[in-house]
Amino acid sequence: MTSPKPHSGPAQPTLAPSPRRITLETLRQMRQRSEPITMLTCYDYSMARVLAGTGIHILLVGDSAAMTVLGENSTIHATMDFMLTITRAVRRGAPDTLVLADMPFASYATPDTAVANAARLLTLGQADAVKLECDGRHAPIIAALRAAGIPTCVHLGLLPQRAAQHGGYKAQGRSASDADKIVDDATALWRAGADLLLLEAVPDAVSSRVVAGTDCPVLGCGAGPSCHGHVVVLHDLLGFTDNPPRFVDKMADVPSVISQAVERYVTAVKTRQYPLPRHGYMMKG
Ligand code: KIV
Repeated sequence: MTSPKPHSGPAQPTLAPSPRRITLETLRQMRQRSEPITMLTCYDYSMARVLAGTGIHILLVGDSAAMTVLGENSTIHATMDFMLTITRAVRRGAPDTLVLADMPFASYATPDTAVANAARLLTLGQADAVKLECDGRHAPIIAALRAAGIPTCVHLGLLPQRAAQHGGYKAQGRSASDADKIVDDATALWRAGADLLLLEAVPDAVSSRVVAGTDCPVLGCGAGPSCHGHVVVLHDLLGFTDNPPRFVDKMADVPSVISQAVERYVTAVKTRQYPLPRHGYMMKG
């Protein structure tokens, strides 16, 4: 007589992440191997599915969505609830891609509010890390997030949330003193616990000093070839933006593709070529 098989019960969920999943450790290893890191903004489920299929490493749920998706004139109009909703949508579409969520304007004014809001982006939004527009004064906030176990990306250089304060969207770090400040801030914030640095619209001479002075992946948005990886706004790349920044090459004219498809649809409806019998439902019985 054979002994009964032990009762195995229902399959237990595994705690191990998918082996395909991109993590901060993946990015650190890529930095070690000098392998370029790719990153684009993404704001919705359908686009996240398409982008995830390309093998891109990071999807940035940027507060630029306030402008590209909502048509506002500044990123400060991205609210916490809006960022939570779109971050969760991007995660659903890209389960194995590293999802980085922007912390909205004024959502990280103190260490306590930063931890509370960032925790929501990680738990409800299911982001892997949060991005904050910073200068050296934010070191206590980055340290508080680190202590709470929240991975961070520190955004330096051109800070779109402060465009009004800085007199517009201008390249930063072009004078020796401004360059020194960005390098010093980057080093201080990395020492405070930042996992990633992102430099926007600064000369490569600044980026190369940040890369040399820190030990984490440095991502550039118009910040030159020294950075370990690069990010641009997807809508700029795909041709949706009238005056994209000089550092973005338009890789496709997606609005034209959409217009052509919609014009075909409109014509088909107007000329009664749509719907055809094959599009309809038959009565049962
Ligand atoms: O919100 C955003 O799209 C960004 C990029 C410009 C880096 O922060």
